Amino acid sequence: MNTIINNIEIIKTKTTKINDVDFGNLKFGHVFSDHMLECHFKDGKWQAPKVVPYQAISLDPSAKIFHYGQSVFEGMKAYKDANDDVWLFRPIDNFKRLNISSKRLAIPELPENYFMDGLKTLLQVDSEWIPKQDGSSLYIRPFVFASGNGFHASPADEYTFIIATAPSGSYFSGKVKVLIEEKYSRSANGGVGFAKAGGNYAGQFYPTQLAIDKGYQQVIWTDDNTHEYIEEAGAMNIFVRINDTLITGPTSDRILDGITRKSIIELAEAEGISVEVRKLTVQEVVSAAKDGSLKEMFGAGTAAVISPIAGFGYKDTDYDLPELDDTSYANSLKKRITDIQTNKAEDPFGWRY
Ligand code: COI
Repeated sequence: MNTIINNIEIIKTKTTKINDVDFGNLKFGHVFSDHMLECHFKDGKWQAPKVVPYQAISLDPSAKIFHYGQSVFEGMKAYKDANDDVWLFRPIDNFKRLNISSKRLAIPELPENYFMDGLKTLLQVDSEWIPKQDGSSLYIRPFVFASGNGFHASPADEYTFIIATAPSGSYFSGKVKVLIEEKYSRSANGGVGFAKAGGNYAGQFYPTQLAIDKGYQQVIWTDDNTHEYIEEAGAMNIFVRINDTLITGPTSDRILDGITRKSIIELAEAEGISVEVRKLTVQEVVSAAKDGSLKEMFGAGTAAVISPIAGFGYKDTDYDLPELDDTSYANSLKKRITDIQTNKAEDPFGWRY
């Protein structure tokens, strides 16, 4: 029999997959929980969301997502504390950013209660899937795509919103080395770089593969005009520490307004660290690496959390960064933010939900 929680209909799976999952050995985004939230936009409005068994989606070959890439997504995490209470981190910010992305891609915006009540209901139904191990969490992937049909290059008349979840470990395995990009661009002024549009990521795969072939894990994107300014990496925003100052580029048309990024800025300032949000040239980073004032470089994102960078390549030269101890900005800020996320520490910012 179907049940209703928070006004949302729930159709439960008859066969759970949870016993097949090795929770002590989770990769990132590899296995998926038993249920998903599904919601359709048709006849000019979003229809009631439902929690249904995680399943394949059937689409017409002319669905506009396949041809025109009209799709946006979010990345979030749910954490379970020692008392089995479940926590989200700044979820309303994800909801707002999803709608900012949707608006740019001419996708109808979602009502807040569909997103939030849908998410909470899904997490209640699949609460057993939220890992408790340190470093693990339930990665949450809300996404919206054009499921309406037709080859005409115009917005679809039907859309599908899904939230799928995956118990996950860390995004990167091993040391992260990055290549500063000199030729390709991730985004341009007036474009969609600030949105979490699926195509922003597709466009990175080829240059990133070239970087992987040379022994790096990620590309650090530079501005499309001059390639002189550091922007962001493929799956995260970028911070550098020069002497004792933490520097990250300002958000713009081209750079994602990362929720981890802005939390790190606030946390670091609260810790008394000098933070500069300003344009940062590749030359400044290279000079600092040469004279030893470049102490740290790290990525920040929901999936990546804070990922220290072990070294970078630029113009056929490799630069190594120092090994980090617990007092490094990267490791101490990572501990601060994950302690807040997982309810191991007070949350003076009101971020935990
Ligand atoms: C996230 O950090 O949640 C993202 O969406 C980035 C993605 C490339 C994994």
